Amino acid sequence: MIGNATSNGHVSITGIGTQAPERVLTNDELARMVDTSDEWIMERTGIRERRVAAPDEAMSDLALPASVEALEQAGVKASDLDLIVVATVTPDMLFPSTGAILADRLGAKDAAAYDLSAGCTGFVYAIAQAHGMVASGLADQALVVGGDVLSRIVDWTDRSTCVLFGDGAGAVVLERVPEGGFLGFELGADGSGGPQLYIPAGGSRQPASAESVAARQHFAKMNGREVFKFATRVLVDSAEKVLDECDVSVEDVDVYVPHQANVRIIEHARKKLGIPGDRTVVNVDRFGNTSSGSIPLALGDASADGRLVPGEMVLMTGMGAGLTWGSALIEWTANGKGGH
Ligand code: ACO
Repeated sequence: MIGNATSNGHVSITGIGTQAPERVLTNDELARMVDTSDEWIMERTGIRERRVAAPDEAMSDLALPASVEALEQAGVKASDLDLIVVATVTPDMLFPSTGAILADRLGAKDAAAYDLSAGCTGFVYAIAQAHGMVASGLADQALVVGGDVLSRIVDWTDRSTCVLFGDGAGAVVLERVPEGGFLGFELGADGSGGPQLYIPAGGSRQPASAESVAARQHFAKMNGREVFKFATRVLVDSAEKVLDECDVSVEDVDVYVPHQANVRIIEHARKKLGIPGDRTVVNVDRFGNTSSGSIPLALGDASADGRLVPGEMVLMTGMGAGLTWGSALIEWTANGKGGH
């Protein structure tokens, strides 16, 4: 799916909030848990440390403070929200949705609220969906949360995956604005690649049983080399397609926010696209791959560093389980200027 986003007026991000658990897990600590080393992890992934949720910390516990911060920045009251979309593959529980739990905790009594599952691309899918509802006039104020507590689905005995992932969440408020905002989206899915990154059990195909638990079938399995090839291809393809659709040249991209999976993947994509390193946001070294939390956490970092300036062109591209991918191009606008 590809489209220009301005035909029904302008919609933008008017507030950002982030939340990561306090607990930092270093590479050296991982090297005491599995057969790995700080040197291997740094060289192959660029990840130095990641955050890990406390035993009583679930997805909605990360989503709540991130959402409160985003709403405050936007100057929007939770009770005025029309829509809450939570992009995650690690909801508090299968149902009710984390969106509904979050709506209740925020006091967003008039909001439609649900979860969206698109792997690490979830946040980009969710902003595209919320954008459509706000642009059409169905919603005036939407809250989109992207986040995951991957530490709960990572196999901590599998060195090929456990070194890569971390926990974190980010939230954004979407509203109509007089000008600027989202210019276009490109989203896709290739389900034939599903077995490259999946959790075998716990769904209707293979419900939880003593056998499935004993066989560690409730943990994420990944074919790292295949996902690496896919990631390096789609990050470039998807970005080029959305830029082309919006008639924006890559030289005009001021801030590039790719999915934070691995420094090697990010470096490959930005070089192939021709985006300078100083225009690329990288925080995978501090957070690891936080799935749907990755892009909003990186946006939050860029915002805190003063890198998100109104008028600048921001390109985001995600990719992940599904396999899925998605890009969004936005001309940044000021916080809290929601045209209301
Ligand atoms: N420590 C030490 N050695 C390790 C580790 C580790 N943590 N993990 C694997 N190795 C070993 C392997 O066993 C292998 O040994 P062998 O040669 O004796 O067989 C060797 O290191 C090389 O393994 P490769 O898989 O070839 O290593 P590669 O350079 O490809 O890096 C990595 C692996 C980092 C997983 C890479 O393939 C990658 O980043 N893939 C993409 C992962 C990704 O981004 N996934 C998320 C997608 S988004 C989402 O939705 C979650």
